Amino acid sequence: MLRLPQRDLRCHECALRLSCCVNAGDNAIALIGFMGAGKSAVGRELSRRTGWPRYDTDEMIREQFGISIPDIFARHGELAFRDAETTLLKTLQRGLGGIVVTGGGIVLREENVRLLRRMGRIIWFDADEEILWQRASRHSTRPLLQTPDPRARFAELLRERLPLYQTATDYCINTSSSSIAEVTDEIIALL
Ligand code: S3P
Repeated sequence: MLRLPQRDLRCHECALRLSCCVNAGDNAIALIGFMGAGKSAVGRELSRRTGWPRYDTDEMIREQFGISIPDIFARHGELAFRDAETTLLKTLQRGLGGIVVTGGGIVLREENVRLLRRMGRIIWFDADEEILWQRASRHSTRPLLQTPDPRARFAELLRERLPLYQTATDYCINTSSSSIAEVTDEIIALL
């Protein structure tokens, strides 16, 4: 399993701790990671505890289309969903303060990673594969897992994406054995 050294979250521009930028309203924290990593739950808790606004790309795209994500995939195709992700990131401009929660495939486009980086720091939630699978397969709402062998597809997607998360991230948190509150504490301690 790939592991990154944990780093202090500092603004690349002013070299101050991230909280300086977030509080000034000119920077954001983006949460990336595979299905089941805990991005949405921690994003909600982090927003509740910090008072920062939360921008969940899956939620926003669902609202935009007015249907569920599996229905977007089924009726409009994956490409339409991926285009909606990129368009949405473009509307979340530099200068945005808050927490950007992303879908697991956001790293598939280098452009998306560039857009996230312009908004602020990127935190990757990693976890052991079996734990990710247990969490992700609890709800059968993930369109990419609607295949004859979802477990094999899951492993394949994870293998393809790990290097993308690793390249994109500023900081990695392993959520395998941590609660939502503990992961939130870890992020808050960095600020
Ligand atoms: C996807 C993950 C989902 C959602 C969509 C595609 C992916 O989000 O964006 O089903 O490509 O891994 P979660 O990571 O919140 O499950």
